[in-house]
Amino acid sequence: MSVVVTISTFAVCVLLSSTKTEELFPHIRGHLCADWTGRLGNIMFQYASLYGIAQRNDMVFAIHKFDDINYSFDNLFALKFKNKSICEYAQTWGENEPCLYDENAANVPANLNVKHVSLLQSWKYFSHVEQAIRTQFKFKEEFETKCLQVLNETIIEWTSNHSSVPQDKLQIVGIHIRRGDYLDKGKIKYGYRTASADYINKSMNYFRDKFKHVLFLAYTAHNWKDMLWRENHVVGSDVVLMHMHSPEVDMCVLSKCNHSIITVGSFGWWAAWLANGTTIYYKDMAKNNSNYRKDFSEDMTDYFYPGWIGF
Ligand SMILES: *[C@@H]1O[C@H](CO)[C@@H](O)[C@H](O)[C@H]1NC(C)=O
Ligand SMILES: *[C@@H]1O[C@H](CO)[C@@H](O)[C@H](O)[C@H]1NC(C)=O
Ligand SMILES: *[C@@H]1O[C@H](CO)[C@@H](O)[C@H](O)[C@H]1NC(C)=O
Ligand SMILES: *[C@@H]1O[C@H](CO)[C@@H](O)[C@H](O)[C@H]1NC(C)=O
Ligand SMILES: *[C@@H]1O[C@H](CO)[C@@H](O)[C@H](O)[C@H]1NC(C)=O
Ligand SMILES: *[C@@H]1O[C@H](CO)[C@@H](O)[C@H](O)[C@H]1NC(C)=O
Ligand SMILES: *[C@@H]1O[C@H](CO)[C@@H](O)[C@H](O)[C@H]1NC(C)=O
Ligand SMILES: *[C@@H]1O[C@H](CO)[C@@H](O)[C@H](O)[C@H]1NC(C)=O
Repeated sequence: MSVVVTISTFAVCVLLSSTKTEELFPHIRGHLCADWTGRLGNIMFQYASLYGIAQRNDMVFAIHKFDDINYSFDNLFALKFKNKSICEYAQTWGENEPCLYDENAANVPANLNVKHVSLLQSWKYFSHVEQAIRTQFKFKEEFETKCLQVLNETIIEWTSNHSSVPQDKLQIVGIHIRRGDYLDKGKIKYGYRTASADYINKSMNYFRDKFKHVLFLAYTAHNWKDMLWRENHVVGSDVVLMHMHSPEVDMCVLSKCNHSIITVGSFGWWAAWLANGTTIYYKDMAKNNSNYRKDFSEDMTDYFYPGWIGF
């Protein structure tokens, strides 16, 4: 009898050391939680990437119903906790750099409750669930309604002045100009750059050459310096300078444009991703040899889609 016990104990030890715990306990699915940082564009990166990482590791992606992301979108598939304690007592996990794909950051221990303290700004974390992300990133009805109204009124007003332009042939290009906060001394020192007037001119001419009828809808922050810069550098009878509403409404309008010109920052990135047309981006957004440049991969294609066009 004792011999049998010894043999079976030995067998269990061999089994334990040679088998992954998820194979032994397939019913244990850890929860994956976010450590939300920043505003709309940043939290969209966190949501999309964590959703992709949870899918890949077969974990339960969990958010709280009062998280900001749940205020912007109302079709999120994540589990919505009423009680935050699972996330508060979770083990933390991290990333090496915020704007590149990091295999270790994607490879989370699937049987544990894990809080990912990371920005995860690479499309590679969620490219395998792209359709599911597009379904979830539908703005709440109140934003969507306002957005369609703004778009509709803008197009009607502009075409009433340009009656020779057939509305069904019109290609609408969203422009997002981010400057203000990127001109802080600390940010410049770190390596942040802002797009030049020449970049804007080149990008607009790209679409003017490509399409017969183009209308540019240009957004920037609501402060006089940025608005003056936009007025001076985004010029033409084919331009409408847009007023800001909420971040959700503004991103929604940009997402309904056929194509995109973006400058710097994650807000423009997501507007372009949602629009899913031709995207022009500012490829010198991180100063060469700066600390900021080190946040990205060698060729920056973990951050910028290979199909996007860098000017
Ligand atoms: C968050 O999501 C839940 C479930 O979808 C919803 O009922 C709730 O109203 C949302 N919370 C907020 C603050 O929007
Ligand atoms: C939240 O969950 C924890 C652990 O499951 C429990 O101890 C605590 O009482 C719960 N809090 C509330 C407000 O339900
Ligand atoms: C704008 O709204 C009006 C009235 O609701 C509608 O008739 C028209 O088709 C809309 N135009 C566009 C471009 O969506
Ligand atoms: C339409 O033309 C009028 C008169 O030239 C001008 O005042 C107005 O700003 C124009 N509106 C748009 C949207 O271009
Ligand atoms: C924009 O670029 C064109 C050449 O592509 C040039 O002729 C024009 O002067 C430029 N405009 C501005 C405002 O820089
Ligand atoms: C361009 O965008 C407008 C507004 O969202 C849309 O109505 C139109 O169908 C789009 N055109 C093309 C060619 O996709
Ligand atoms: C956009 O749409 C195409 C299909 O038309 C798809 O292949 C592509 O991955 C989409 N995403 C982006 C970010 O361009
Ligand atoms: C940064 O370096 C790349 C090559 O690595 C070069 O193509 C690019 O022009 C440089 N940018 C600036 C602003 O010097």
